[in-house]
Amino acid sequence: MFSGGVNLMEGIIPEETVEEIRIKNDIVSVISKYVDIKKKGKNYQGLCPFHNEKTPSFNVSPDKQLFYCFGCGEGGNVFSFIMKINNLTFPEACEYLADQVRVEIPHNRLQNPEYIEEKENIKKINNLTAHFYHKLLLKSNKAEPAKNYLYKRGLKKETIDRFLVGFAPYDWNLLTNLLLKKGFDKELVVKAGVVGKSSKENRLYDRFRNRIIFPIKDQKGDVIGFGGRVLSDKDHPKYLNSPETPVFNKRKILYGIDLSYKEIRKTNSVLIVEGYMDVIMMHQFGFKNVLAPLGTSFTEDQGRLLKYNAKKIYIAFDADIAGEAAAIRSLELLQNLGLQVRVCNLPEGLDPDDYLNSYGKDKFINEILKRSQPLMYYRLRQAAKLKDIESIEGKKEFVEEVLPLIANLNSAVEQEEYLKMISDWIGTGKNTLEKELIRITNKIGKEYKNKNYKNKDYTNRKKDNQDSYRKGKGQLRAQEELITLMLNYFETVQLVKEYLYPDDFDKKEWSLIVHCLFVLESQGETEFDLSMLMSNVNSKSDKDIDVNDLEKEISRLTFREHPKPEEISINKVIKDCAFKIKGKDLERRKEQLQESLKKIDPGEEYEKYREVLLELQKYIKIEKTKNLNLEGRGVRKYGKE
Ligand code: GTP
Ligand code: MN
Repeated sequence: MFSGGVNLMEGIIPEETVEEIRIKNDIVSVISKYVDIKKKGKNYQGLCPFHNEKTPSFNVSPDKQLFYCFGCGEGGNVFSFIMKINNLTFPEACEYLADQVRVEIPHNRLQNPEYIEEKENIKKINNLTAHFYHKLLLKSNKAEPAKNYLYKRGLKKETIDRFLVGFAPYDWNLLTNLLLKKGFDKELVVKAGVVGKSSKENRLYDRFRNRIIFPIKDQKGDVIGFGGRVLSDKDHPKYLNSPETPVFNKRKILYGIDLSYKEIRKTNSVLIVEGYMDVIMMHQFGFKNVLAPLGTSFTEDQGRLLKYNAKKIYIAFDADIAGEAAAIRSLELLQNLGLQVRVCNLPEGLDPDDYLNSYGKDKFINEILKRSQPLMYYRLRQAAKLKDIESIEGKKEFVEEVLPLIANLNSAVEQEEYLKMISDWIGTGKNTLEKELIRITNKIGKEYKNKNYKNKDYTNRKKDNQDSYRKGKGQLRAQEELITLMLNYFETVQLVKEYLYPDDFDKKEWSLIVHCLFVLESQGETEFDLSMLMSNVNSKSDKDIDVNDLEKEISRLTFREHPKPEEISINKVIKDCAFKIKGKDLERRKEQLQESLKKIDPGEEYEKYREVLLELQKYIKIEKTKNLNLEGRGVRKYGKE
């Protein structure tokens, strides 16, 4: 979504505020916090954060305040970038960027005020609950067993404080009564997830009872949910989590983010463990770049969050869990996002918490972290363990399983190394394996190409209307060229307007863009301003056009290669393009006129004959001179207007 008077479901941010935020957040400095971009000519270039690539095709234009990736087609302005990279809605992106430059958003107008307030109150309830249970743990007699348990497990008082660990005693109403007494609404305390409601009698009760409480915080440090652990491993379930609430989404959250993210950024690396206790214990031992998912496998959202903060990921899962298919799939997801994934080998049955308490910090560094293995190596090892690689059958199965993995690697050096390695393991010659690898690579390559081809075909067909399918490529290219010129050199808009209507452009997005450019020009704007263009586009945009597609298209066309006015005769280029676009229509019209001329007897209907003849001559002349002119100004004709 671009700036402009933004009227979203969530509410309204005043146009002038959006504009102020946009102007104060230079796209180059915002993006360079996420992507390593280097100046190249007028623009900046780097590796695209939205897809995996080895050579930079991600471009940022300081002049246009736009970005565009030639590889994957992502594009837009500073708002779209922040939305995409941090997975935010437009108002959230506004809020984030406003924060960066200390612009105040009139708060009651951001989003739907009631919804905002509800979220804020839910956080308030969670914060209050966390502090309440924390104080109980430290002060209440009832919490003695819990406190002893935690101390016995090696937690220090300062760690308990830092993580706000608490205790919920065996009581059905303690928290509920407190919250209601504080004046919170019944519905809301239930919605916040800390209070339950019996379905039969609608009675409220404390959700967490006789459990150690681990508050889960967001990056800002607000408590958004809880994990509650039983004291005795005999009880079930071992952990009870908050339910999904408006502020608590397990698939997006990582435990420890509030205390770890600075160190993650600083070291460009992150350690992923499985449990709350692991995160806490690692911190106590001085590892401050540690996170845990909440008992689920990794999601893409979490992967992206990591990706923008760190390059290297160490996975320190319990040995038997790390080997599970689901775990491996989620690690592959991380690797596919471009992260370097290394797997730690913990002794069977020990998690990092156990390991640290048994062997200490130095051993963890030297035996576990330093000996971690790249995910690929780990997978090969794993496959070899599960197959009987002494037998011919087993060798064949092993090779069939792992060669596709090796074929997928981008680096030939890596491929070579892994081939050598497995050749050693199974005693099959490296040459044989290489031949097999080539066969597989070809097969994968073909599938890949087919898939890509199909995708491309599909998007084109979706975007183009029927008519443009009949039109030649040259015509479409001419249309693109004109829009590119107009986006880059606003002064060309009036020239294009001489020859073409917005409807002469074949894609819906294109005619909308052209229409808005024409409108801006006729309003006497002398400079191209994307945000102004977009506010126009937004208000005109109908349900058929996806704003996101539109953004990408504007970026793509802006960054498209184009001749520079100082190097060419811009008039001639525009005329040629216009003629290419109109040429077919002219020809068709000419043919029609010639046909009707044949049918008219000049002796009987002289006036009519003359009329048609004159018109035909006009078209023949246009064809010869390429002097094409519109009677009206293009701006009057768009859609149903
Ligand atoms: P300790 O046993 O106290 O060391 O805790 P742990 O964090 O090491 O637990 P464990 O290794 O058994 O589980 C790892 C993580 O999986 C936990 O931190 C939870 O997030 C999650 N988990 C484990 N058991 C349950 C359960 O019964 N319910 C839910 N919802 N999550 C669980
Ligand atoms: Mn544990």
